[in-house]
Amino acid sequence: MPAKTRHFLSLNDLTADELRALIARAIELKRQHYAGEPNLFARGKTLAMIFDKSSTRTRVSFETGMAQAGGHAIFLSPRDTQLGRGEPIEDSARVLSRMVDAIMIRTFEQSALQTFAEYSRVPVINGLTDLLHPLQLLADLQTWTEHRGEVQGKTVLWLGDGNNMCHSYINAARLMDFKLRISCPAGYEPDQDIVQTAAEQIEMIPDPMQAAEGVDLVVTDVWASMGQEEEQALREKAFAHYQVDDKLMAQAAGDALFMHCLPAHRGEEVSASVIDHPDSVVWEEAENRLHSQKALLEYLLS
Ligand code: CP
Ligand code: NVA
Repeated sequence: MPAKTRHFLSLNDLTADELRALIARAIELKRQHYAGEPNLFARGKTLAMIFDKSSTRTRVSFETGMAQAGGHAIFLSPRDTQLGRGEPIEDSARVLSRMVDAIMIRTFEQSALQTFAEYSRVPVINGLTDLLHPLQLLADLQTWTEHRGEVQGKTVLWLGDGNNMCHSYINAARLMDFKLRISCPAGYEPDQDIVQTAAEQIEMIPDPMQAAEGVDLVVTDVWASMGQEEEQALREKAFAHYQVDDKLMAQAAGDALFMHCLPAHRGEEVSASVIDHPDSVVWEEAENRLHSQKALLEYLLS
């Protein structure tokens, strides 16, 4: 029997040591890239990427990362695959995984991703589901480490929707042992079962100004995620007091950073003054999607 295939469906598929090693490797791959040192770890390998939702960063970082590593990436949209015409997930997984070396999927249900992984011979990567967005955490943790060193013991504020990004922050808080304050309007809290897995690291503080006091990192995300477009107006009302603005950042520690997975809506979840301020590291955070996903690919393909 071949060794069990490693998947990356959640940050919880990694141990704390593996996550730390990936972040260190991402920093090293970034250095190599800037030094012009080629690293062809994916030579002859192909990554298939299934996107049931839109993407700029995830698609471009994976395609570019595979090209830089000497491999190839294939973009698959439901508009022109048989998966989009109802070919079962199980069959698609069996077929694709006999051709390619890894498969990334961005879709709605975490359970569809899990089913795909069960039938795949090669590593499956979560490119975002309604439940989780673990790839973004690799980039966020890399960015935070580059700017501030060890994240253990520090305090993060997650402000806004208890969504897929929030859930992945909860997983990261448990693995990396940082404190996570979560401030959400009533009815938009994260999944309680996920919160329970990191009960020691988490504090739920509904009042944003109180939650922001002295934190080292402020993170937010859109009020309406992909698939929730029809709730936009309702959510704008619910989240009106949950904007990251200058007043909120003034509550945080003097050297607090701001992050956002992007795309952002200036004037909704974040003010232009915050996202365009020097303490905002969103552009490096976006760039680090490339380096951290190369580290992940190197790990999964080896
Ligand atoms: N942050 C992120 O995943 O961006 P895309 O939706 O552009 O891939
Ligand atoms: N929470 C957002 C993240 C986008 C990268 C969404 O799911 O649309």
